[in-house]
Amino acid sequence: MNKTIFITGAAKRIGKEIALTYMKLGWNIIIHYNSSKHEADELASEINRVNPNTAITVQGNLDVKEDIEKIIKRVLVAFPTIDLLINNASTFYPTPIEEISEDHWEKLIGSNLKGPMFLIKGLGEKLRESKGSIINITDTNLSKGVANFSIYSAAKAGLDAITKGLARELAPEIKVNAIAPGAMLEPPDITWTEEQKNKVIDSIPLKRMGSEKDIAEAVKFLAESDYITGQIIKVDGGRSL
Ligand SMILES: NC(=O)c1ccc[n+]([C@@H]2O[C@H](COP(=O)([O-])OP(=O)(O)OC[C@H]3O[C@@H](n4cnc5c(N)ncnc54)[C@H](OP(=O)(O)O)[C@@H]3O)[C@@H](O)[C@H]2O)c1
Repeated sequence: MNKTIFITGAAKRIGKEIALTYMKLGWNIIIHYNSSKHEADELASEINRVNPNTAITVQGNLDVKEDIEKIIKRVLVAFPTIDLLINNASTFYPTPIEEISEDHWEKLIGSNLKGPMFLIKGLGEKLRESKGSIINITDTNLSKGVANFSIYSAAKAGLDAITKGLARELAPEIKVNAIAPGAMLEPPDITWTEEQKNKVIDSIPLKRMGSEKDIAEAVKFLAESDYITGQIIKVDGGRSL
């Protein structure tokens, strides 16, 4: 029987690469999206062309309680098991202190922290049955503090904390780990100038940006490991050193 991976925010970029990596392994793939319906449908078609009847999509806004419930219902019945949950979806934008509003708080905490927490709650029993694994995608830059990103940072730091707490609580059946990417891709909808890009690259000991593949490979490594739980693996070319 095929194993099943559920990836949030999987229509594009890093989530999509994780989906394609598990397509090559022949897994069932549940592609979650919020607004990128076209890209999610295209990805599901691509996967189903290679491995028929293995990919489905599920829509939902992780800021919205009813949507999280809807996602969980669909995921629970999609395939016989759930073996791997990847909390990858994320909203990312600056919130200078003088501009912070409750709406910013709800949005940044919703997708980066509250959504992952309630997805784990809703899917936990099924992950337990399959002795599955949870991987939360956080961010390597938190440890040094990032000006203007205090809400996003708080949400991702919370996700790191959830990772460690739940690794204890859900053991021994479920492993819970996190991957903290460094500078992999330019932020969505922003194109850096050459100068901005060079400044980022200069701050990375390995002297290059990462890629979607670096994260997908780390996911595969963690998911296949039988003796790692509660860890936050930095995939950042040494930037956090
Ligand atoms: N890219 C980097 O260099 C980098 C660096 C550090 C950390 N990370 C982390 O790595 C992960 C993947 O990065 P990425 O750059 O590929 O992510 P991304 O493109 O910024 O976002 C991934 C997806 O999250 C979904 N999303 C956003 N808000 C949502 C909401 N309220 N409800 C449901 N889905 C929502 C979006 O889905 P739709 O398009 O369908 O709306 C989006 O396509 C993220 O957790 C990010 O924080 C990335």
